[in-house]
Amino acid sequence: MLDQLDKLENDALAALATAHDNDVLEQWRIKYLGSKGAVKTAAPNMREVPAEQRSAVGQRFNEAKRTLEAAYEQRKSSLAGAAKAGPSYDVTEPGLPIGAGRRHILSRTIDEIIEVFARMGFTVAYGPEVEDERHNFVALNIPDDHPARDPIDNFYLEDDLLLRSQTSTVQIRTMEKTEPPLKIISIGRVYRPDTHDATHYSMFNQVEGLYVDRNVTMVGLKTTLFQFAQAYFGPEAEVRIRPSFFPFTEPSAEVDMKMKVKGQWQWVELGGCGMVDPNVFTAVGYDPEQWTGFAFGLGIERIAMRKYGIADIRWLYENDARFLRQF
Ligand code: DAH
Repeated sequence: MLDQLDKLENDALAALATAHDNDVLEQWRIKYLGSKGAVKTAAPNMREVPAEQRSAVGQRFNEAKRTLEAAYEQRKSSLAGAAKAGPSYDVTEPGLPIGAGRRHILSRTIDEIIEVFARMGFTVAYGPEVEDERHNFVALNIPDDHPARDPIDNFYLEDDLLLRSQTSTVQIRTMEKTEPPLKIISIGRVYRPDTHDATHYSMFNQVEGLYVDRNVTMVGLKTTLFQFAQAYFGPEAEVRIRPSFFPFTEPSAEVDMKMKVKGQWQWVELGGCGMVDPNVFTAVGYDPEQWTGFAFGLGIERIAMRKYGIADIRWLYENDARFLRQF
């Protein structure tokens, strides 16, 4: 009798372990725990059990019944949990390709430019995009009535704040808190209310350079720009500077670089440069009799667009994956 109960319990547990869905589980319940199930059927008729075995058999029967009932409840709740957790997956199936991201072509251009200037000893300085008039204009020797300060050409905010229109602001911020000599570049966004078209956007990036030391000359400026062009655009690259005017440099020049545009070497106008105006030094508390310096500011989108044959500046800001994937 005890052997039969052992066998019933073992068989029932083994069968339960193969019940992977609710239908099979329900069949199992009917077969073993149902009102005409195997457990009921196995209930010993005590009158037929010898008196000295009655208590052992009774206990064993109750124990087997409780074990199977508990095992059933547990199985039921684990199936319900699995259903809630969603479908089960076939881990042997081949996977789906994951669309790997990549760095934006502008971010990569910025990294490359920083790397080239870093090799020439420039460290990177940062400044805020919301600026005051002192850093965007006044200390840069841009007078009150200068057209560059026109409300139509700037994003003025409240009080004397505006979105910076040039990264030259970082020249002032850096000199205010650093004693000369210094050699920095700064890269970041600038803002001008231009109407958007293929070559204009109301936000773009500039790389600003500033070198202050004793005996800095225009030759050093041209050499720096030339070395940058060679390192970045290749050994056939050249630099040309043309006389120009900026309030914060004297003399001032426009910078053109000869770079490969769609396989052809071409002159591309990239920005401005010059020798730091003594008034700028005075504004930040540097002695213009002791210190000399050069500065330059180049447009980054221009560089990237020409280098990679991008015809429309807006594409750089539309985040169209079909465009971005090409680089
Ligand atoms: N800030 C000028 C601009 O946005 C570019 C520039 C010209 C920067 C001459 C300079 C510089 O540092 O020396 O048009």
